[in-house]
Amino acid sequence: MEAALVLIKPDALKKSLTGDILSRISSAGLEIIGAKVVRVSEDLAKMHYAHLKDKPFFQDVIDYICGKQHGRNKVIALVYWGEKAISKLRALAGATNPEEADPTTVRGAYGRITTSGVYENVIHVSDSPETAEREIKLWFSPEEIIEDLYPTKTMVEGGRAVAIWA
Ligand code: PPS
Repeated sequence: MEAALVLIKPDALKKSLTGDILSRISSAGLEIIGAKVVRVSEDLAKMHYAHLKDKPFFQDVIDYICGKQHGRNKVIALVYWGEKAISKLRALAGATNPEEADPTTVRGAYGRITTSGVYENVIHVSDSPETAEREIKLWFSPEEIIEDLYPTKTMVEGGRAVAIWA
């Protein structure tokens, strides 16, 4: 069993594609164990895409996920859980480059490359169990996920016990 982070990006939200994307992904037979709407901070975006910090398109990717090109700072973040979740989701998502993605996939059907060369590829899907763990811990707290995916510890905050990632 594997978990994977899926982000429905600002271009997809602006184009009202959420229903179609969720319905396509449901064909994988996976379970949603976490879901929320997120206003993405520059810090969160930079941590999520930290491995790209030396790429020429880094700031464009940050601006894109923060909704700057689409007039609304909003993404839908989901955690999917199930057998071979990552490979199933990535097959449905299609290639990272939307021009190379099979037209029957989400990115092939709806993605584009901007005139400045940035991929607007509609969704993000974790690419390995290690990346999924890093990304899920970044986007979700333990209490926002209904499976015990990774070790946690308890902290007292404002007199209340809260679980945080260990
Ligand atoms: S790499 O090169 O393997 O470390 O990159 P990868 O993990 O595939 O993630 C690349 C993310 O940057 C987005 N992006 C681009 N990649 C390559 N070239 C261009 N021009 C580009 N523009 C944007 C790409 O969509 C990946 O983000 P996600 O959210 O995973 O789709």
